[in-house]
Parts: sequence; C-alpha cells; structure tokens
Amino acid sequence: MTSRLDGPAKVTGRAKYGADHNFPGMVHGYVVLSTIAHGEIEGMDVTAAKSAPGVLGVYTPFDPLELRPASSPLFGETWVPLQDTEVTYYGQPIGFVVAETFEQARDAASLIDVSYRPRPARTSLRDGLSTAEDAPQPRGAEPSLEVLDSDVESIEDALAASPVVVEQTYTTATQNHAAMEPHSAVAVWDSDGLTVHSGNQAAYLQAAELASALDVDPSSVHAVNPFVGGAFGGKGRTSAPAFLAAAASRALGRPVKAVLSREQVFTATANRPATVQRIALGADQDGTLVALRHDSWSSTSVDRSFVEPTSHGTSREWYATPNLAISQKMVPLNVPPGTFMRAPGEAPGSFALESAIDELAVALDMDPIQLRMRNNSTAPPGKDLQWSSKHLDECFRIGADRFGWAHRSPRGRTEGDWLVGLGTATAMFPALRFPASVEVALRADGTAEVATGGADPGTGLLTVLSLVGAESLDITPDRVTPRLGDSALPPGGMSGGSTATASAGTATMVAAAKVIDDLLALASSPGAPFEGREVSYAEGRVLADGRTMTFGEVLRALGRTEISAIGSSAPGEELTKHSFSSFGAQFCEVRVHRWTREIRVSRMLGVFDAGRIINPTAARSQLIGGMIWGVSAALHEGLEIEANGRFANGDFAGYLIPVNADIPDVDVHFVEHPDTLHNDVGAKGLGEIGTVGMAAAVANAVHNATGIRVRRIPITIEDLL
Ligand code: MOS
Repeated sequence: MTSRLDGPAKVTGRAKYGADHNFPGMVHGYVVLSTIAHGEIEGMDVTAAKSAPGVLGVYTPFDPLELRPASSPLFGETWVPLQDTEVTYYGQPIGFVVAETFEQARDAASLIDVSYRPRPARTSLRDGLSTAEDAPQPRGAEPSLEVLDSDVESIEDALAASPVVVEQTYTTATQNHAAMEPHSAVAVWDSDGLTVHSGNQAAYLQAAELASALDVDPSSVHAVNPFVGGAFGGKGRTSAPAFLAAAASRALGRPVKAVLSREQVFTATANRPATVQRIALGADQDGTLVALRHDSWSSTSVDRSFVEPTSHGTSREWYATPNLAISQKMVPLNVPPGTFMRAPGEAPGSFALESAIDELAVALDMDPIQLRMRNNSTAPPGKDLQWSSKHLDECFRIGADRFGWAHRSPRGRTEGDWLVGLGTATAMFPALRFPASVEVALRADGTAEVATGGADPGTGLLTVLSLVGAESLDITPDRVTPRLGDSALPPGGMSGGSTATASAGTATMVAAAKVIDDLLALASSPGAPFEGREVSYAEGRVLADGRTMTFGEVLRALGRTEISAIGSSAPGEELTKHSFSSFGAQFCEVRVHRWTREIRVSRMLGVFDAGRIINPTAARSQLIGGMIWGVSAALHEGLEIEANGRFANGDFAGYLIPVNADIPDVDVHFVEHPDTLHNDVGAKGLGEIGTVGMAAAVANAVHNATGIRVRRIPITIEDLL
C-alpha cells in the first residue's frame, strides 16, 4: 500500500501547476474566439482595444504573432492559432490581447469589433450524415475491414443466414475532457531561450512542438510540467494558450501568462467527437456469433480531421466470429476539433457493441455473461497472433460472484417505488508502449534518483517511478527520488494510451541494470575497494568474498558524488509474437423511480486483468475514476450544439458531470497475472480501461430495470417516460 508521493503537495496547495507561476514583469494574455461557425474574417477593428488601459499588444490574423505550423514527433502536424482569416467553427481562437492585468486584457478583448463574411455552416451530425455516405473521406480515415469465412460471399449473406439477428443504431454525444486545470501557460524568455510552464502529457513533446512553431532550436525550449491537473488526452498536444503566450512573450520581452476560461476550454481546445454506430449481430440459437457488422460515423472538424475509432477499437478484436465487417467514417462539420479522450474509440464503441450484445442475449433468452464467454476471442479475428494473456473469463466469474449476478432476474425487480436492474459489459483496452528513456542515478549519500521527461497528469507515474526504481535497485522506495515533467530530462514516458507504467517502468529497469553494472565495474577497478575481485550486487550493496559495502560507501571511497545511466525501451519483437490487451468485466446496478423516472446508480463493480499491479492504491483510483467517467457518459455528459455552431451548454452549469451524490461505493478488483511477454515490468496498462464498458453496463441495467432499451447516451429521464 503506497500513497501517492505528490499527494500531500497537491492537497495542501503547495503543488505549483502551470498557471500558478508568477514572474517579475509578467503580463496577461486573453484569447479571443470566433462567434460564427463558418466564414471568413473580413476585418478586426482593434483601435479601441489597443488604446484601452494597460494593453500592450493585440494580435489577430491581420497582425499575427510570429508562429509557424508546428510539427510533433508523435502527432505530426499541430494546429497553431491566428495563421489565417478562415473560421471553421464557433469558438475558434482568432485573437490574443496582452495587458498588464488579466482583467484589462479581457476588457480590451471585448472591444474588438470583428466583421465576418459568413458561409453556410453544417453543425449537426444528423445533417452531416445524409451526405457522408459517399463523400470522400478526409485525411487520416480508417480503412474498412472485412474478414469472411471461405464459403461466404458477403457480410450481408452471413447475416441473412444467421438464425438470430439483432440490428440497431446507437449514438453517443460530443464530450469534453473537463480537466480540473484549464489549459494555460506561463512563458518566459531569457538569454538561454524559452521556458514554458504548462500542463501537458509529455514535456518533451511540448518542447518540440513549441520549438517548431517558434522556429527556434529545440534545445532552447524548456517545457516544465511537474504537476498537471488532469489531461485525459486533451493535453497531448500543445494548447493555443501555450503557443500564444510563448510567441507574445518573445514579441514583448515580458513573461506572459494565458489561461483559458472554463467556457473557452470547451471550444478552444478539442473534444471527443459524437458518434453514430450501426451494428448487426448474427448468431446461432446457442449464441455462437456467425456475423458481426459495425459501421461507425464520427464528427470531425472540417480543417483538422480526427477519427473516433469506435468500430476499430471494439468489434475488430472483442469477439470470435467467422464473419466480420467494420467501417469507420468521419463526418466533417463546423464544430471544434476532435482529439483523444480517455479510451478514444473504445469508450463510445463499447457503448454500442456491448449494448448490442445485451440485446442479442435478450433475443436469445440467454444470460449476457454466458453469451460473452461463448464468443470469447483468443486472438483478434483475421490476425494470427494470440493474446499474450487473457483472463476475461476469470474476471466475469469473480465479478458475477462478488456482484450477486446469480440473483439477477431477466426482468429486474421492484423495491418499493424503485425498479432495480443489473447490467454487465466487457471492457478491453490495448496494452501498448511508447519509446521511453529514464535516467537512474546512484548517489554517494546512499540515495537514488529516477528521472524522465514524461508527465504525471494525476495518473500516478511519479510514484510508479520510485517503486519500480526501488525494486530494480533492490532498495527501499524511501531512498528513491523520482523526477518527471521536465523536457531537460531524458525524453519519453508520454502519459497517454495507458502506456506510462509499461514504457517508463521498463526503461527504469534497463537504466537500473546499467548503473549497477557500472557500479560493479567501478568497485572492482584498480585502486577501488574491491579491486580485482568477483563482485555482485544485492540490497543496495556490493559484495565480494563475504565483504560488503553499500553503493554509497563505494562511491565515497572513490570520491564520486554520483554515477548515472540512461536506459531506453521501445516496443519491438514482442509485437510479432502476440496481441496484447487489458481486459475487464463491468457490473452495474441502477434504480429507476417508477413515477419520476429518476435514474440512480446504486452499485458498481469492475474486475480487471491488467497484468501486474505496481501500486494497488493508485491503480484502484485510476479505475474508480474511469468507471465514474463511464457512468458520467451514460447519464450526464453531452455537448448540445445550436444551429449556429455554439455550444448551448459549454460550461459547468450546463455540461453535467457527476457529483458525489451521483456515485455509490465503487468496487474494484484485480485478477493479477503479470504479462512479461508484453514488457519486463509485467504491467499491461489500466489508465483507460476503467471507463470502457461502463456506459453499456448502465444502459443494460436500465433495460433490465425498465424493459426500455435506450440506444443513445447520455440517457435522460425523457428517454424513460
Ligand atoms: Mo489518453 S486519451 O490515452 O491521453
């Protein structure tokens, strides 16, 4: 049981997030957003703004800051603001006002008079869909995939020949990450270059993107983010305030702070796209899947295409079926851009697939867990590579037992005025790794340091570094100081894709092994305490012939303050041998009020096969957070887009997220099977899987309680009238 090392600093307010930094002479920037969904900016009258009190700079596409299109080592091209007069969505950054105080900048921004030449805008996914079917797909589109049995002509034939068929359409809402820390940056230039304090998912990526946008040498950009107030995919790329603050600081020669307002976060960053998913399942009477077709459409902005890979993220791998057809299309709209959001693809995809599986169970009059186990995949269909380890059956067995699934009636039960239902769903999320480098140092005072440029956006990487470092050095964790969130440290450890523990953990093991080798070589070198001896290492000590010295003593004897080594790891040969995934079984109990149709979640359980669990406390927290997120998707979250492209509820009054009263105790259980076929640490990743499956488990429980199948989220009272 290890508490998170950064916990005390965070709860006492001592942790300094990006916008908590202040510097002498610092000034404030305010981002100006468009108020039409599509068109061209004809002009921006900035006369009044420029002469307003305290104003130092007003930047627009007609008088822009010096920025180039940015490129990222991981994401390719990254959009930078103010580069042209095209408006492609409501709430697009089109200006930046810098003044002595935040209030002066905001007031001056309101004085800017923008004239537009508007063009027709398409903002509704439903309207967009009518033309999307045959439209050419934007860049980045996912290819369709079809795997058919040798004697089958088409997926339609396979479905037609299936004794039982379920075919339905499911929809999911546009969502926002709603991280507690709004996107922000403090930028400071000095003779060495630029330092940026800004919450981000990888300091080295942010430094690279800023360097390319500013057209300066990467070594002159220093990105610092030891604390990040939530990211969830929404801080993978460098944000508009960071580009603008950095460029304005260079232009003005003053430190610049820029913080988006909560309302601005909803449009000036990026969201999870809305989806429409059509699923057809064909099965034998005994529940064996014969055919699975999953066609998906997701919204995307017209100028920055992004796919929410729902069908690829779920139906491609989740079930064994001889006939599979999936397609994935984007529907370009005049809406803010899409981006990765916690379990991109899998979260909305599993709502559709796992609802459809539940519908098939009802059609077959079969237990939903039994149906899932009957079609348990041993490998992704069409791929020869078996899962390295899969214990989904154990997750369901233990989960059913813990949750009292045996007492579930196919038609729910009634308690007073409440209709009570149980639902379940499968969760899967691929086990991935990114290249990562970590430096491990041994110091003469007997302590060690583990350092990487990756970020900890609340996911627990800092603590994981100390635990894996301690284990690899065979010393207690209190002797290990972890460091991260600084682009000056070895690159890697991107906190995204549920990869950080597997990636940085493996690199830590490599670095520790190297530094121990170096220590042993030094200890037995000429003039050293163990000169010429056969030495070994254990429990932080060098041993030879019954004599031992701590590494600190050895270093002191040699007059060294420290020795260090960098270890790197990257996905490699294992990818040619197996498929890798984490797995889970989600359970939920809901109560629907007979008369008011109020929906309450009363119990939830997740049982997960995520390989080795490094820090049970943090792991459990990650999964609880994910499961709450899934309930939120099912019952609360959704951006409503007005015809003019404005979000009707782009603030925390209208964009609903659960509060404590919405969430019961959450039960999380691990079946722990370390997966060293995936990486030496044995961890498969668990940052995102908690949310996967949860929305379907809620919807399936609502059906069990009420007999009403709701095929869109968020589910509202009106859906149950
Ligand atoms: Mo996350 S959506 O993997 O950053």
